[in-house]
Amino acid sequence: MIRIPLSYNSINTSALCSILEQYQGVHHNQIIQDFEDQLAKEVGAAYAVAVNSGTAAIHLALLVLGVKPNDLVIAPTFTYVATINPVFYVGANPVLIDSEQDTWNMHPELLEKALEELSNLKKLPKAIVIVHTYGTPASITEILKMADRFGVPVIEDAAESLGATYKGKSVGTFGKLGIFSFNNNKSVTGFGGGAIVTNNEELAKRVRFLASQARENFPYYEHQKVGFNYSMNPLAAAYSMSQLLDLKKFTNKRKDIFKHYRQLFPPDFSAQREFADVRSSRWLSTFLLPEGNDGVSVVSRLKEVGIETRPLWKPMHRQPLCCDCKAYLNGFSDDFFQRGICLPSGNDLDTKTQDEVFFSTIGLVVRGY
Ligand SMILES: Cc1ncc(COP(=O)(O)O)c(C=O)c1O
Repeated sequence: MIRIPLSYNSINTSALCSILEQYQGVHHNQIIQDFEDQLAKEVGAAYAVAVNSGTAAIHLALLVLGVKPNDLVIAPTFTYVATINPVFYVGANPVLIDSEQDTWNMHPELLEKALEELSNLKKLPKAIVIVHTYGTPASITEILKMADRFGVPVIEDAAESLGATYKGKSVGTFGKLGIFSFNNNKSVTGFGGGAIVTNNEELAKRVRFLASQARENFPYYEHQKVGFNYSMNPLAAAYSMSQLLDLKKFTNKRKDIFKHYRQLFPPDFSAQREFADVRSSRWLSTFLLPEGNDGVSVVSRLKEVGIETRPLWKPMHRQPLCCDCKAYLNGFSDDFFQRGICLPSGNDLDTKTQDEVFFSTIGLVVRGY
């Protein structure tokens, strides 16, 4: 039985009820609109569109950028499958890029190599999706420079990193579009949900249109394009709204959790690096175990004593799903998967419980498993 979950947040029933009370007698869609305004303001974007998952948000972002069957889309190999699945939904082919050793995110030089080669082949990708993994921002300046040089739009998959900043600005606001997730295990949750943010009015309008069954602006139901039922539900919007009010508190808490683990674990347990002007939200506290260790085995052994941890993402180029994808590799994502582990990081975790996680983990690493 799991005693110490990976990313549990207690349910704040009174915060939810107080939001719902405010909307008694008001059209339920108003809750969604107000959540969108709150989110846009919070991250400093002109527009936000709330949808029912981060995955749907990426799907819509690709569609409004005009990605079509057989197009190429560049994405990191070191990510959760939800970054890649929408590329397949639109019939496009992912081109996978390996990671930087420091941030674990997309390597700008490998991206450059891919763009140069694809440009020579006259097969430039229609979009680049970058991911700010586990709350730590990617090297946005370098990536945007490269994307601009080749004229390819960037989508920021910030599903895991609400609360993280890069040069003082929220992640998700640098690319043409950014996406967030409010699923169950995020520090700000709606028990499911996602959002797209953008500064481009036209793109925001198209996202909203496609997310609500592509209903044309007629006095009756007129449909000329295929649409999706991707809008966020009002209850998820209400809970997300109540939780977003505490974004700073939750982000600080997760940063403190990381700091405490960092103090406990010796330096040969390495973590994602924050460069100057970069603030990770430390959604999950993640570490690479010392050389020679096996993350998957440690995760299994910790489960036996009721501690829920997870291996780091198995890179996409190792997934049968992506066996036909072109990939630009340097070996780092393989190493992250081999040695990596996500530790319990929920909003309610206390330091005593963290100490127990530390002693159980270090015991396995030192004594063997
Ligand atoms: C990197 C990344 N992208 C996209 C998603 C998709 O979000 P959702 O679960 O809301 O569909 C997730 C989910 O956690 C994620 O980790």
